[in-house]
Amino acid sequence: MRYYRYGRDALFVGLEMLGLGPDCEVLLPASLCEVVLLAFMKRGIRLRYYGLNAGFEPSVDELESRLGPRTRAIYVNHFLGRPTEMRAVRALCDRRGIALIEDCAHAYGATSDGGPVGTVGDIAIFSYRKFLPIADGGGLRVNSIELPLPEALPVRTGTAGWAGAKAAIAWAGGIGLLPLATIQRWRGTVESYLDPQDNLDAGGWIPPAGISAESQVAIRAADMQEVTANRRDNYRLWTQVIAGIKGPRPVFPDLADGQSPFCFPILVEQRDDFVRAMSRHGFYLEPTVAPPYRRIETLENPTEPFPEMQTVADHLVSLPVHQSLTGRQRDRLAGAISAFFR
Ligand SMILES: Cc1ncc(COP(=O)(O)O)c(C=O)c1O
Repeated sequence: MRYYRYGRDALFVGLEMLGLGPDCEVLLPASLCEVVLLAFMKRGIRLRYYGLNAGFEPSVDELESRLGPRTRAIYVNHFLGRPTEMRAVRALCDRRGIALIEDCAHAYGATSDGGPVGTVGDIAIFSYRKFLPIADGGGLRVNSIELPLPEALPVRTGTAGWAGAKAAIAWAGGIGLLPLATIQRWRGTVESYLDPQDNLDAGGWIPPAGISAESQVAIRAADMQEVTANRRDNYRLWTQVIAGIKGPRPVFPDLADGQSPFCFPILVEQRDDFVRAMSRHGFYLEPTVAPPYRRIETLENPTEPFPEMQTVADHLVSLPVHQSLTGRQRDRLAGAISAFFR
């Protein structure tokens, strides 16, 4: 395992290790956060989207049908903490002699077939700061015996400082633990989230950096079994709350074995109105799942419709399941949600 400032840094290094560059194509799910796409764009890699069903699962047949002479890797994400079934994708990659990249950014602490996620891909990336109260922290795990572990980047000391505090504020805001006014100053307004910009620009890409010393210590000290158990408890409580309200629909029918919830995702018809209403109660709920970004020069299928992903992206909202969420906070949010749908 190698630690970096962010998951995107780990990915950027991992792509280099896999030898991926301008002549290569990678299959990616048609919904990914922009910083992941920027890492590919910065390397000039050609991208081809594949579809997912409304439960974020890929179809292996579809993946196979999209493989072309330049395809060098398939990218699989464990969306929102729910482990994606990897065996069939692994078998496909082995059969075709291409690499498998596993994104565990949403799924730290998750297990699949009894083992931790991140052990099936040739490489796997992590973003610990999405689960732990730390300012930075991403990881690259190298599983393929054909690949050497990259050189470790120096741990940054004394650099978390103000930037770290800002990041922590933004993070706490993102899961609804801080008053809206505090975080609006750092993250922009709710409106900027509801209107994602499609013009990605890799020009301002910051080269990979090492993790801060503080975050590295915190990651090593975290009891992930307990963290995951608490998040699963919060997830179950939301299942009950949402079942009692007419309107919002849970994205996943159940809490899967091994799932380490990133959030409790719901689909809401009037999503934007709902997000604005919650912000007036002081809850900053993120849409979380991006629609397919299309204005990417190296994207092979920019006009292909992906209706399932577009619909999910238009209606999804994340409710917080963070391990430090209190019963009082959850009750207040549940009250605001019930009031909206009444
Ligand atoms: C699925 C996914 N992978 C990777 C990342 C990158 O993680 P980081 O923010 O640590 O760079 C993100 C989001 O930020 C993400 O949503």
